[in-house]
Amino acid sequence: MKITGVEFLTSAALPSQFPGSNLREIAFVGRSNVGKSSLLNSLVNRKNLARTSSTPGKTRQINFFRINERFNFVDLPGYGYAKVSKDERESWRRTIEAYITTRKQLSLVVSLIDIRHDPTALDIELAGWLESLGRDFVIVLTKADKVKKGAVAERVRQVREMFSDHGHLRDVQWFSIKTSESRVAVWNMILAHLG
Ligand code: GTP
Ligand code: MG
Repeated sequence: MKITGVEFLTSAALPSQFPGSNLREIAFVGRSNVGKSSLLNSLVNRKNLARTSSTPGKTRQINFFRINERFNFVDLPGYGYAKVSKDERESWRRTIEAYITTRKQLSLVVSLIDIRHDPTALDIELAGWLESLGRDFVIVLTKADKVKKGAVAERVRQVREMFSDHGHLRDVQWFSIKTSESRVAVWNMILAHLG
């Protein structure tokens, strides 16, 4: 995928603030610190499109980016970070929920899970929720360079198996910021869906 244009549209917390753009959207969601900003930056070949940080919980709003004037990437706030107040956690949940339930342009959700860990209760809840809403989604297993090469394919297989009763799960892929091959694979998965 050749990136010819990346444009930041807006940050939003409420549906009334979502951009009017009618382009199809691919939304990225996952536990805080899972590597979401890193994946987004890698996909669009920018160093700092979505802020990456070693301090979890930095991205608090929904950020919209227009890619090649063809579709939008949507960066949803990270969930499950323990060191925030309960109120704040609830507000993030509402923000994500509002987007996923109401956004007509939403075409695909990319759910990120750290390849080293089992899906958390929130990852499983999210998948169940996407399934019940009839939202197509894919899973990207991040930080694949942190496990042995042979363990990567096995983990992909396990996660496919774990969610095999989720008919709206389109694919599972691994990703590492250190491997451009995985960047291409994730792009192909997204483009295959957009058709
Ligand atoms: P929040 O926005 O804070 O929720 O985090 P995030 O999900 O956007 O994660 P981010 O991309 O900021 O990455 C978190 C940390 O993991 C950073 O220190 C990254 O450098 C590191 N990281 C992300 N992806 C990879 C990867 O593929 N391999 C390795 N080794 N480290 C990674
Ligand atoms: Mg981030």
